[in-house]
Amino acid sequence: MAVDVILGLQWGDEGKGKIVDYLANNYDIVARFQGGPNAGHTLKFDGKKFVLHTVPSGIFRENLINLIGNGVVIDPITLSREIDNLKAANVDYQDRLLVAKKAHLILPTHRYIDAASEASKGKAKIGSTLKGIGPTYMDKTGRNGLRVGDIMRSDFKERYQALKEKHLGLVKLYPAIEFDLAAEEEKWFDCLDVLRKMKQVDGEYYINQAINDGKRILAEGAQGSMLDIDFGTYPFVTSSNTVTAGVCTGLGVSPSKIGEVIGITKAYCTRVGSGPFPTELEDEVGELLRKEGAEFGATTGRPRRCGWIDLPQLKYTIMLNGVTQLVVTKLDVLNIFEAIQAGIAYEYEGEEHQNLPYDINSVPITPIYKSYNGWNQSLDHVTEYSDLPSTAKEYIIALEDQLNVPITMISTGPERHKLILKDVEVLS
Ligand code: GDP
Ligand code: IMO
Ligand code: MG
Repeated sequence: MAVDVILGLQWGDEGKGKIVDYLANNYDIVARFQGGPNAGHTLKFDGKKFVLHTVPSGIFRENLINLIGNGVVIDPITLSREIDNLKAANVDYQDRLLVAKKAHLILPTHRYIDAASEASKGKAKIGSTLKGIGPTYMDKTGRNGLRVGDIMRSDFKERYQALKEKHLGLVKLYPAIEFDLAAEEEKWFDCLDVLRKMKQVDGEYYINQAINDGKRILAEGAQGSMLDIDFGTYPFVTSSNTVTAGVCTGLGVSPSKIGEVIGITKAYCTRVGSGPFPTELEDEVGELLRKEGAEFGATTGRPRRCGWIDLPQLKYTIMLNGVTQLVVTKLDVLNIFEAIQAGIAYEYEGEEHQNLPYDINSVPITPIYKSYNGWNQSLDHVTEYSDLPSTAKEYIIALEDQLNVPITMISTGPERHKLILKDVEVLS
């Protein structure tokens, strides 16, 4: 069987957690392939709410295996907190949560460097979640990192000390900040026990065996394609490949094994942290989207920047990912608007464009909008596509026409069941 993929097509928080949780029942394995505790994936069902950072979003579905892939970076402290939450909710996770030995570890000093580096940048800061993501991936590519499998080595403590010393040298290059390293280290070593007790696997062998055995596998992305280290709004990005290609390196599967690529977009657009956002609304409309969409970060609680959907941006990420199906989330957030705008082109350097400029941070971009009629009613009662108000259907069809990819699902609320299946036959 091929590996299907779910990923975000904007700047993150598209509702990946909800959609993975919904679809997980169709699969045997859900596997996270990149990112780390910078992610916050929200799941709501049976009147309960969970936010997952490292644990894949299939964990609440019985019998389903959840793999944290080699491309993920793991902070034992966050992971252990998440596992405590699973225990508290009586989730039988022990045999179903696996971790790849080649996944890299986030050390307390990675978080220290992240915070010191951000503080030194002043106004130019990335707006990092300060979870140590950038420094950990730097150590990975710099060939200095520590991996989950290393915990079992007899010289682990010495390796830890050596890397920590290196980090403390680095931290001196930045202005001093407050960081209680001793306390963080103590917690970190306590939490390592949780990782030690987890089922560690050679992820690449595990996943390929599963493919050969005909298991159905869903790869769960974190962040969004506009935060991709290569193709996002660099340097205002995260430090991993968030696009489909990241599935191959982050799990150890070949490109020929990729099946459906399910891209998620909100019915509008948000971004948290610094960096360009062409359709951002810094006015009362943006404020209204934030209020209606409860747009506050699931990891940091920061208010998310809000704006209209940006179709050239989505065309770009659909191209990068080879998206075969689209999911539109948070359609209900637009219920109150008389008219809805969609960015259909960019104007910069005196001309109209469909492509983003290379120098996206310094070239001022003015979006060109097309207006659609709103529906001004609740979608709470709608369970079938045919029951959507006609203007909502017109908006969906317009998106589908312009993006040239079938929209197979429409989400109308945070809860698991608030999902309209549009073209189910397209689903694998
Ligand atoms: P993720 O990082 O992509 O998993 O998304 P987040 O969990 O960070 O952010 C999505 C937010 O929107 C969460 O609070 C979800 O509960 C919520 N959400 C998801 N789908 C919908 C939807 O269709 N409508 C509304 N109103 N909220 C939604
Ligand atoms: P999920 O998986 C939204 C953003 C941060 C910052 C930039 C770099 O929940 O969609 P980092 O901590 O990676 O160094 O931060 O990326 N960012 C996210 N924004 N959703 C996320 O994850 C994000 N993960 C990182 O706000 O701008
Ligand atoms: Mg999120």
